[in-house]
Amino acid sequence: MKKVTVSSLLAMKQKNEKIAALTAYDASFSKLFDEQGVDVILIGDSLGMVLQGADDTLSVTTSEVAYHTKCVRAGAERAFVIADMPFMSYSEPSIAYNNASSLIRAGASMVKLEGGEWLLETISGLVERSVPVCGHLGLTPQSVNVLGGFKVQGRDQSQADQLVSAAIALENAGIQLLVLECVPAQLAKRVSQQLNIPVIGIGAGVDTDGQILVMHDMLGISANYMPKFSKNYLQETGDIRKSVASYIEEVKSLSFPGKEHTFE
Ligand code: KIV
Repeated sequence: MKKVTVSSLLAMKQKNEKIAALTAYDASFSKLFDEQGVDVILIGDSLGMVLQGADDTLSVTTSEVAYHTKCVRAGAERAFVIADMPFMSYSEPSIAYNNASSLIRAGASMVKLEGGEWLLETISGLVERSVPVCGHLGLTPQSVNVLGGFKVQGRDQSQADQLVSAAIALENAGIQLLVLECVPAQLAKRVSQQLNIPVIGIGAGVDTDGQILVMHDMLGISANYMPKFSKNYLQETGDIRKSVASYIEEVKSLSFPGKEHTFE
């Protein structure tokens, strides 16, 4: 069993082998996902919604993510572990350095930040200080109040071009992975082709380098509504381990996401 690293994720992109990722928040699910072969586990600030029952992710704190990161790390042996930096925890580079160090100390191998060009100094500063960074573009849930809801992004040409430029700028600043959320499939394909680093999609069609889902959506047990781009694998298989195995198999074979999970 070889540990997943930034190098092996990059090699997967180069070999056109899809990356299967899920969120997790505790050691039991993390171990189960790891044993089934999930490549990347994200401690998402979605924990505010699926664990704490909030309407959005804005109330989540760095210490809460650090606590769940410690739990997830305890269960993960092979999978690559990424922790989300919550709302306002990276508003300035020095604040980001402090908060990122708590997440790395808690067991994360990479931190994820939402946003475009305004983050370039923070990203290069983190990378210079040996903190691997994952970007997050498209629908960035921490900006829900600015965006006016959880809406598909990049539908018009100028928004799409802006997103591609932001993705290239983030890559040049040093991100080693990019999450692309809720964008038309054609735009996600364009970004994935333009970048050298792996692009992991959620609601971004089948042509990204991998897929991620919130585990509660993938199991159909979320207290929130089920997004169009997700799929309830537990309903199909009736078993959690089989659900995860089926999700991984469908991601790797390009059967998920289907047209019904995709935005045009
Ligand atoms: O917080 C989260 O779970 C995420 C995923 C939706 C990618 O950022």
